[in-house]
Parts: sequence; structure tokens; C-alpha cells
Amino acid sequence: MNNAKPLVTLAVDIGGTGLKMLCLDHEGKPLTERLRVPTPEPPTPARLLAALDKLRAQMPAFDRVSVGYPGVIKRGVVLSAANLHPRWIGFPLQAALEKRWKKPVRVANDAAVQGFGAIQGRGVEMIVTLGTGMGSALFTDGRLCPGLELGHHPWLKKTYEDYLGRRGLKKYGVKKWNKLLRKAVAQTSATFNWDHLYLGGGNTKLVTLQFRPNVTIVSNLEGLLGGVALWRDED
Ligand code: BGC
Repeated sequence: MNNAKPLVTLAVDIGGTGLKMLCLDHEGKPLTERLRVPTPEPPTPARLLAALDKLRAQMPAFDRVSVGYPGVIKRGVVLSAANLHPRWIGFPLQAALEKRWKKPVRVANDAAVQGFGAIQGRGVEMIVTLGTGMGSALFTDGRLCPGLELGHHPWLKKTYEDYLGRRGLKKYGVKKWNKLLRKAVAQTSATFNWDHLYLGGGNTKLVTLQFRPNVTIVSNLEGLLGGVALWRDED
């Protein structure tokens, strides 16, 4: 039996529109309210980290940090920033936060973190997030296949994100956006043959479609609750 004190994880979700934070217990249950502030403009690393410092100052003590970042991350370094600032590309986010907050930090793609909070760990499960950008992550028996980035794959005449992200929603309006979403769900089913699809992200509140039982909408909180999964190998 492990008598060590259960660890508290500070979960951070960096979004193109909002920055969110809460503390989780060792099982991934919230210990605090979710705090949210608008993403600073322009969303450069310096400005964004300063905004995160302010949020962190309102949080209780924590032992480690999990971060969901809206782009490709490899070995703690940012490789893409479609909905943030180009200055993020090449930025060592994990090392920078460890230095700043003096705690161990793990960073992963935001949709992957959200997926970890939603999946059952059985079969092929996929998450698509509908927010500023369109996030995606694919899991087989609970293991992540990283770097999917479906949002930027060609679809119809553009990319999935062009139609289903914030820009698409603004351009096409809620009704057409829902129709496009129905088409996209069918396309992902044909492409990946998932057993279960989860739809997450702030814009799921605009979804008016009825789906089969193996397509479920998950709460935006999942974007943070998946944070403990990044530490599973240590628990
Ligand atoms: C990024 C993804 C991210 C998604 C949602 C996309 O533009 O390329 O990595 O998961 O937005 O934030």
C-alpha cells in the first residue's frame, strides 16, 4: 500500500480564446473551481505566461502541473501554433514553466488531454474538439496515437478546421455549421472506424444534432480533468 500523500495536479488549458486552470486530486477530481481568463492579445509566449502566473497565484498549493496546449507538442517543445502567435513555434513550454513555477510539468496537445478525461480506455476512441480551432485525438485501448491534427487535413474544399473551427462557425452560421459537423462525423467514422466518438470544446453548446449512442458530447471541464492522465506512469 502506498502511504505517500496524494499528489495535487494543477491542470492548465491554454486555448485560443480562454486560459483555464483548476487543481485536481490524484484521481482527477476537481479540488477547486475552474478559473478562466481571456487569452491575452497578442497571444505571445511572454504575455500568455504572465497571464498564467496571475491565475496560478489564485490556486492552492500543488505538486505538479499538466498543460493542454492548442498545437503540436514534442518532448515539451511547441511545434505549431495555428491559433496563437508564431513566436510559440520552437518554444520550450515545459522547461519554461518548470523554471517559472519550480514544479514538474508535463505538456500535451489540448485535445489529447481532453480525450484522456473522456475516454473509457476500450477499443478505438476518438475525440474532436470544437473551439477556436478543431482539435482531435485518437486512442486505442486507452493509448494515445499523438499528432493526429485532423483539423488541418484537407476536407471538402478546405480543411476541417476551416469549416468547423471558430472561423467556419462565423462564416457559415450555426445551422450550416451543424450540417457540416454531421458530414464530418460521418467522414471520421469512415476514416477511423472508431468505436466511440466524443465531441468536446466550448462550441458543442451549439450542436443541435441527434447522434447514435456511440457519439457523445463531453463537458468542457474534461479539458482539464484529463490532466492527471499525463502522470499515470508515475502513480
Ligand atoms: C491545433 C490543434 C489543437 C486544436 C484545438 C488546432 O488548430 O492545430 O493542435 O488541438 O486547434 O485547440
